[in-house]
Order: sequence, then C-alpha cells, then structure tokens
Amino acid sequence: MRGSSDVTDELDRLRADLDARIAAAGDLAALEAVRVEALGRHGSVTALLRGLGGLAPEVRREQAPRVQALREAIAQALESRRAVLGEAALAARLAAERQDMSLPALLPPAGSIHPVSQVMDELAEIFADLGFTVAEGPEIEDDWHNFTALNIPPEHPARAMHDTFYIAGEAAGEAPGRLLLRTHTSPVQIRTMTASPPPLRVIAPGRVYRSDSDATHTPMFHQVEGLVVDRDTHMGHLRWTLETFLKAFFGLEDVALRFRPSYFPFTEPSVEVDVGCSWEGGRLTVGGGQSWLEVLGAGMVHPRVLANCGLSPDTWQGFAFGCGIDRLAMLKYGMTDLRAFFDADLRWLRHHGFRALDVPTISGSLS
Ligand code: PHE
Repeated sequence: MRGSSDVTDELDRLRADLDARIAAAGDLAALEAVRVEALGRHGSVTALLRGLGGLAPEVRREQAPRVQALREAIAQALESRRAVLGEAALAARLAAERQDMSLPALLPPAGSIHPVSQVMDELAEIFADLGFTVAEGPEIEDDWHNFTALNIPPEHPARAMHDTFYIAGEAAGEAPGRLLLRTHTSPVQIRTMTASPPPLRVIAPGRVYRSDSDATHTPMFHQVEGLVVDRDTHMGHLRWTLETFLKAFFGLEDVALRFRPSYFPFTEPSVEVDVGCSWEGGRLTVGGGQSWLEVLGAGMVHPRVLANCGLSPDTWQGFAFGCGIDRLAMLKYGMTDLRAFFDADLRWLRHHGFRALDVPTISGSLS
C-alpha cells in the first residue's frame, strides 16, 4: 500500500500538470478537452475520487479532502480560463466582423444608365404624375399605322420628308401594306386609339428610324409621343401639359413657351413649340428668354385620324405631341454631339451615364 505522502505527491503532480495544460489551452475547444480529461467520466480526477471508496477508512478520511480540494481547484482554474478565452473569442469576432460605416458604399459592379434611358425614365415619372401611362408599339411598323392612318396617304408629299427605311415583305393581318422601320412614334397614337376606348392619356417613348446622318441626325434616334383623347380636350390642355412637363423636366420655376403655327398631316391645328433659352458659358440652356429653341411638334388630333381609329370626331377630341428625346437629353445634361450617344464609347458612358440605383422620382430628384 502506498504511503500518504506518495499520494500527496501524485496529487501535486497532477495538479501542476493540469494547471499547466489549462494555462496552455489556446481556445475554448482545447480547454474543453482538458476538462474532459480531468473531470469527465473517465477523467483523471474523477478516477481519484472513485478510488477513495477502496481506501481504508483512516486513509480515506485523510485523502478525501485533498482530492476534493484538487477537484475544486481544477474546476475553478477551468472556469477562470474559460472566462478569459471566451472574452478573447468575442473580441476576435467583433474585430473580424467590424464594419466601417463611414466608408463609401460599394458601387454597382458594372455599367451605367445611358442618358437616353435616364431621360425616358424621367419622362415616364413626370407623366405618370399627370395620369399618363406608357404605351408601346413595334419598331418594325406597317405602312398603315406609320402613314395612312395618320392621314398621310400614299401619294402624300409628307412621306418624302420621312426618309423611310422600307423592309422587304408585307405586313400580315388586317392592316396590309409595306413593312418599314417606324419614322416617328406617332403610329403608337393609332395603336392606342384602336386598342382601347377613350378617355386616353399615354406617352410612348421609343426608337425611330430615318435615313439621315450628320452631326445632328443619326439614322436611329428617340422620340416620345404624347396623346390625350377626351370629350372636350382643347389647345389649353395641350399648352398646360407641355408647360408642366418642361418645368418639371428642366427643374424650372417657370418656362417660356412659344407656339408657332405649323403643319402635320395628323394634327389640325398644328404647332411647333419653342422654349425660351439663354446662353450660359457658351452653351444653350433652357430658361430665360433671349432665344427660342424648337423642342416639339404638336397639335389637336386631326378628325380624320380619330375617324380612322373608329372614334367619332363629334364626340372625341384629342391633342398629340412628339418630341426628340436625344435633343432633350443634350439640352438638360450638356452633351454637344448627338453621334456620341450611339458610339458605345465607355469613356463617354462613364462620364455622362447615371448610377443604376439613382432612379428618377418626382419626390426625390429627377437628375
Ligand atoms: N410625329 C411628328 C414628327 O415626327 C411629331 C408630332 C407628333 C407632331 C405628334 C404632332 C403631333 O416630327
């Protein structure tokens, strides 16, 4: 049988060993492993406690408090090491997950919104506020929608002004005629009036095509059409609508408008609309009144156009307008060469493009 001093030595060694291993445990998992080895079911300290039962009573009386004290001490040491490691783990996690909220947000990864798309979104937003919905029509159009229904019969001289791109083939369906690339957005007027009954309030932005190319003309460009049909629509409504639109679009308190008599086969009377402009820093900007700049064609929908769409001109009147979107974008955002719009030059797009998340809104900002 071992002497009590041997046992005491063993307890001291075990304690020194466990203390060292507890201190050496680098993380909570390592500490848990030490705990299991010492105090677990098959642990070294647990084995000693169990062994007490087999000792002679007088030896047990002497040894039991020492083994108990060892167990207590080891449990304590484990607990305080756990607290230290837990705090370190939390601090490491906080450091790793820290976010600097003052850093700029990550930019959208690629691309930007083209000024033409931006202006189309702005138009949709402004006119939505006035109760207009967005209408669409095909870019490959037929002769009837692009010309005939708009009071431009085949022999009409206005056709010559349109420099039309014709496409081989006939249109299918009830509206026969040659196929072409639409020369303006006005065929969407026809599609709108034949699709649903008035009252109507739509804008139709989109691509149009004319065989024409120089510094201010590209074979493809963009227009927005506006159409209102109701029972007593008149020129005053047209004027108010255009004024409201231009003020909102250019962010102006007031805008000077000039209606000049003009001619379009599909409106009567017809006007060309100029806005008051001024020269600022060598560049023409909307606002002020030193010069005039033509921005729109407009007028009251011709009775024959209404009739072509099955609407009685005795009941319905309407106004329509058409406007070059690229021109609007150039005026608002200061681009000088129209051709650059369609060059797909990344440097130009980065400079003139808009952030994808900056969606124009009436309540926020339109630019
Ligand atoms: N469609 C005409 C053009 O392309 C513009 C316009 C639209 C004029 C509607 C009057 C009414 O020039």
